[in-house]
Amino acid sequence: MSEPSGQAPPLTNRQGHPIHDNQNQRTVGPRGPATLEQYHFIEKITHFDRERIPERVVHARGFLSYGHFTATGKWGDEPIERYTRAKLFSEPGKQTDVAVRFSTVIGGRDSSESARDPRGFAVKFYTEDGNWDLVGNDLGVFFIRDALKFPDVMHALKPDPITFHQEPARIFDFMSQTPESMHMIVNLFSPRGIPADYRHMQGFGVNTYRWVNAAGDTRLVKYHWMPRQGVASMTEADAAAVQAAELGHASADLFGAIERGEYPEWDLLVQMMDDHEHPELDWDPLDDTKVWPEEEFEPKLVGTLQLNRNVDNFFAENEQAAFGTGVLVDGLDFSDDKMLVGRTFSYSDTQRYRVGPNYQQLPVNRARTEVRTNLRDGPMTYYVETGGENPHVNYEPSTMGGLREAEQRGPDEIGPEIRGRLTRARIPRTNDYQQAGERYLLMEQWERDDLVHNFVTAISEATPEVQRRMVWHFYMAEDELGQRVGEGLNIGLDDVRDLEPLPKQELSEAEQQRLANLG
Ligand code: HEM
Repeated sequence: MSEPSGQAPPLTNRQGHPIHDNQNQRTVGPRGPATLEQYHFIEKITHFDRERIPERVVHARGFLSYGHFTATGKWGDEPIERYTRAKLFSEPGKQTDVAVRFSTVIGGRDSSESARDPRGFAVKFYTEDGNWDLVGNDLGVFFIRDALKFPDVMHALKPDPITFHQEPARIFDFMSQTPESMHMIVNLFSPRGIPADYRHMQGFGVNTYRWVNAAGDTRLVKYHWMPRQGVASMTEADAAAVQAAELGHASADLFGAIERGEYPEWDLLVQMMDDHEHPELDWDPLDDTKVWPEEEFEPKLVGTLQLNRNVDNFFAENEQAAFGTGVLVDGLDFSDDKMLVGRTFSYSDTQRYRVGPNYQQLPVNRARTEVRTNLRDGPMTYYVETGGENPHVNYEPSTMGGLREAEQRGPDEIGPEIRGRLTRARIPRTNDYQQAGERYLLMEQWERDDLVHNFVTAISEATPEVQRRMVWHFYMAEDELGQRVGEGLNIGLDDVRDLEPLPKQELSEAEQQRLANLG
């Protein structure tokens, strides 16, 4: 923060008029009444009345900072251009400015940053080809695999609509009927569910994307951010102590580190596979409840992110920042992941409502390249991006000097041909339990103990029916997990072995085998 120097500059209003008295309204005599023509008073109060915009419906509390991304020019040891023509990755040492917003998901704008909650990890790359947003989380997977269910899972996780209290009974009511959430909740209720702060957590794109090279060939990819600071988490007890003293410790930690010049860094690694359905796998590469095993799909380095500048204004740059999964540049593309398509609709929809239809013109959101569009008007139009020779022409095509279509940089992406009937159906290879069980087995003993403790504490608030169903799910994932959570809830294998799968649940062969073994 800069020190005041000498005489401070005089206050004005937004019309540029100097303000001679900022202490007293204009009144008839010193004791009033007040008059209505006083421009400064009315501007000041009415502006204050409008200081807030709706907070984000999810990820309301977050913290944004700036930095840059430095590319290696490679995917591991191979030239990256084999796989993507995205310019930001193309050359070793190439730097791209970024804005990164970390967030919690469920709480409101002033809620605790040590809550058990996924963390958002949203990166905006201001590339020479326009903006690219990579909007991820810290846990690598998600609760659901179809965007249609997003409002339901969020309603279950958010406070009760009457008591406004977050209720484990409601959360586990929903999760018990949603077997695809098992992998996510095994992560969320482990120590990883409360990262120590934003500097010490990983990030993941979670959804599957595509890379496109100069020939138009496509590959499926997943993104991973690995903190050079290391990964650190908190137990419930640690979190309770932090929370008692400070609700915003993670924002404060990041802000302070950047002010001190201790710039945090993350390596970006990318997993890749050929662009098809991969029938040899017993899970679907487009399923965001699954990780891609690293032994088979090795994550390889493509660059490093450094954060080194704080915002000048929290509201302008953090509250009004808008990230979305549809914001992609040439060489980076969507996959057919059913969550990703829903997310891509949702982000800009909510931002048009939350910030306004011209949110992309605000400095934090604006592309650093020249923008030329025929979009016009709407609330808060800040400037006109005409760019064409003839500003009268706000349509295309035109012979009168309007904008023309850009040249295409390479062939369209050549992905697999897609055919099928219109349908409403879940994907065939759901396999909801295996990776949840594997995740449990990968944990150290203290992490398993913490997970079991957290599950028992939370699930004990649910109805007996939900408790039994959760224990059944855990047995389906991993015997030890089922047994230990069951012990904590006084539910034995005998109490759950007769449970049928859920009405719409389709078990894989391996899962049917597990079910038979339970019986
Ligand atoms: C924020 C919707 C899944 C990560 C948001 C917002 C909405 C939303 C409406 C608020 C955006 C704003 O007000 O600017 C959805 C929907 C999803 C989904 C409909 C599923 C269908 C996910 C997943 C992830 C994720 C799977 C993680 C991989 C984020 C992040 C933010 C966010 C990081 C905060 C962005 C920021 O810092 O401004 N999401 N989301 N979301 N979402 Fe999602």
